[in-house]
Amino acid sequence: MGKPDLGIMSRREVIGVGAAAAAALAAIKPVHAEITERKKRVGPNDKIVLGLIGCGGMGAVDMRNLMRKPDVEVAALCDVDDNRIPNDARDVEEKYNRKPTIYKDFRKMLERKDINAVIIGTPDHWHALPLIMACEAGMDAYCEKPISHDITEAKAMDAAVKHFKRIVQVGTWQRSTQEFTDAISYIRSGKLGKIILARAWKTDPFQVGKSQFVDPPKNLDYDMWNGPAALLPYSANHVHSNWRWFLNYGSGMTGDWGVHMMDICLLGMSKDTDLVMPTEVTSYGGKLAYPTDDRTAPDTVQSIMKFKDPDFLMHWETGRDYPGKPDHGSEFVSAEGKTLRVWRGGMKILDPGGEEIEKYRGEGTSDHWQNWIDCVKTREQPRSNLASMAQTTIVCHLINSSVLAGETVRFDKEKMDIVGRAGKNTQSYHREYRKPWKLPIYKV
Ligand SMILES: NC(=O)c1ccc[n+]([C@@H]2O[C@H](COP(=O)([O-])OP(=O)(O)OC[C@H]3O[C@@H](n4cnc5c(N)ncnc54)[C@H](O)[C@@H]3O)[C@@H](O)[C@H]2O)c1
Repeated sequence: MGKPDLGIMSRREVIGVGAAAAAALAAIKPVHAEITERKKRVGPNDKIVLGLIGCGGMGAVDMRNLMRKPDVEVAALCDVDDNRIPNDARDVEEKYNRKPTIYKDFRKMLERKDINAVIIGTPDHWHALPLIMACEAGMDAYCEKPISHDITEAKAMDAAVKHFKRIVQVGTWQRSTQEFTDAISYIRSGKLGKIILARAWKTDPFQVGKSQFVDPPKNLDYDMWNGPAALLPYSANHVHSNWRWFLNYGSGMTGDWGVHMMDICLLGMSKDTDLVMPTEVTSYGGKLAYPTDDRTAPDTVQSIMKFKDPDFLMHWETGRDYPGKPDHGSEFVSAEGKTLRVWRGGMKILDPGGEEIEKYRGEGTSDHWQNWIDCVKTREQPRSNLASMAQTTIVCHLINSSVLAGETVRFDKEKMDIVGRAGKNTQSYHREYRKPWKLPIYKV
């Protein structure tokens, strides 16, 4: 069975604890003795006090990467599932010799006056509200990708971050790794020539099987896990990690891996992190490989996007097989037929026949998590800043909008919106929030 995007570290074992252990954990009082009111701005020699919202998955990987930094301290953990917390709590206690405060409701964590910033490692349907509420609370954030469930949320998040002047790094860590930064600098240098086509792909071998609707387990606050998404009956194959294959919560492979791979195409074709955006998106897709599986996200997608100034096409594909290529990647094709291919772990420059014609090594790379820490202190924009990642995320949602609508979707970058009606009636564009949740919209 294939794997979803699990990031750079292998997925942790999900540990189980009994109700007593979970209750004991929940009752732990903060031993965060030197709690002080946070300063308006973290000084160069100050520690950044962090809270993690959404344990046990990629948010915990981010937390461990940040725990390696001497000027970071993790003070609090939050999850709606008691069973997801103990591994992370143990590591935090071992590192800082104090127990983190445990929360089940992130809004309580956001009331803390000593916490400077939060990591948002919740599923995609639960990024927008914690991020916007963190901005309202004066906190910075490291938010996982894709930034949102839909286009409306992405715009609301972008507006809130700008309104409250917060520093937000998004978890597209490939923007900080050697092969991808090399690919982008090579393309921007013009050495490959005029680019006529950018391509990105990822195999999708993932099936969730048949849903079994039962009562949610006692350790999980399922209502809070569902949050603003439409409430579906509980089934184990809808929640942890599997949610990405249900469009009620995630955006399938297009949002899960497309956001990484197309991000590289868009960055390479842009001058800086303000990205080129397509004017037209035509996509087809469906559950063609696994028609009887209960996932709702398409397992097969073909999308063509048209860009103006510079004029080029972009192709996104998710399917079953890519003979001779890695199972994921990004490519740039020149007018002369040369190709630059890049994937996690390598980059090649090829002639039209597929022969490697050049080796290239650029300026090197830096640490994605350190880049965020530095920017929290300097107030500069991080490499995967939220405004830029809102753009890549919106491209993913435009593709799904086109698949769902069965029509070409047109986009206006100035308005950051779909032009006309095609695509607007899809859940990738907008969904009604389940009461009592509301999406705040701030003026920039
Ligand atoms: N950057 C990367 O390379 C990378 C890799 C994997 C996943 N991700 C992203 O990380 C995010 C999490 O993915 P995952 O696979 O770790 O998911 P997951 O389902 O394994 O973990 C999410 C955790 O959030 C918790 N949660 C849900 N609602 C919550 C709420 N309201 N408050 C607090 N906790 C809540 C869940 O109980 C669960 O423990 C997603 O956005 C995903 O796309 C990024």
